[in-house]
Amino acid sequence: MKSVLVAGGAGYIGSHAVHQLVERGYEVAVVDNLKTGRLAAVHPKSIFYEGDLRNRNFLTQVFSRHRFDAVIHFAASSVVGESMKMPLEYFDNNVYGTQVLLEVMRDAEVKKIVFSSTAATYGEPEKVPITEDMPTNPTNAYGETKLAMEKMMKWADVAYGLKYVALRYFNVAGARNGGDLGEAHEPETHLIPLVLKVALGKTPAITVFGRDYPTPDGTCIRDYIHVEDLIDAHVLALEYLNSSGTSNTFNLGSSQGFSVEEILSAARKVTGHSIPAQLGPRRAGDPARLIAGSEKAQKVLGWKPSRTSIERIISDAWRWHSRHPDGYTASI
Ligand code: UFG
Repeated sequence: MKSVLVAGGAGYIGSHAVHQLVERGYEVAVVDNLKTGRLAAVHPKSIFYEGDLRNRNFLTQVFSRHRFDAVIHFAASSVVGESMKMPLEYFDNNVYGTQVLLEVMRDAEVKKIVFSSTAATYGEPEKVPITEDMPTNPTNAYGETKLAMEKMMKWADVAYGLKYVALRYFNVAGARNGGDLGEAHEPETHLIPLVLKVALGKTPAITVFGRDYPTPDGTCIRDYIHVEDLIDAHVLALEYLNSSGTSNTFNLGSSQGFSVEEILSAARKVTGHSIPAQLGPRRAGDPARLIAGSEKAQKVLGWKPSRTSIERIISDAWRWHSRHPDGYTASI
């Protein structure tokens, strides 16, 4: 399998995927509407098309210029808080965008898709680690859209034989080793980049969202996974679709939990900065503990995450943020 379309290939995770795919010898075309993606993050050896998945004519034209073996689909709105304020826009962009993509794939007879899903499909888990057979009860509109997208693929498989791998990400962090590709959301909502902005002196303090959770230090526990390990699993998922010809769903996490306080102390150690913190109220909808059971991906896909230490994840992110304190705009 050589020719791949990456939808959302200018975003944080998508751009890391494009770089790895190009390096592994794939022919890569990228579709991105550049609403949140950055052109500077797109690999120069990929073929870039600016446009929106909901624009059927645009997408049909892209498919007519290539013979794609598969699609990797990252293009979605992904801010949980925002999804609660504008759920209809989230359904439009995420669910309708995916519907058009699947229709164009069906018409072009492209039958394989690797799909960026989320731990938010589970909602508040009954227990951790979370395994793929546990109930899916999203507690936010973002997670609900991703679950709807998974279900759309399931029925497209039944009707048209479209095979999919849904990858449910836990907390993706870190950056490419060289420090030229990284996380640059605007506005930023994720813990690790926000903590590193404090270390850079761009913001005065990090607000810890609640210290009264039922965890050892009272702060929320999450499973952080290095973006490059995450992308390794996407490449394996492409190979899996090729060799097995069956659809499947996998969690992607490091199977280890770190509290907000533990992230703060690791970031202080990595950066050598004090990183002041202040206590704030709980953020609505935050579960106390989310930890992935990722054995299925390891067993079935042969995935071996190798950058699992939290110091490694934070130091790779730190290299990117210190080299590009204003993200892509000012420094590239
Ligand atoms: N946090 C703070 N202060 C901040 C930002 C975050 O204390 O300024 C805390 C949050 O309360 C949470 C932890 O840090 O406990 C991690 O928060 P993130 O916003 O970095 O990540 P989330 O766990 O909320 O979100 C991640 C993904 C989402 C996905 C969700 C699944 O980024 O895409 O997991 O629940 F939907």
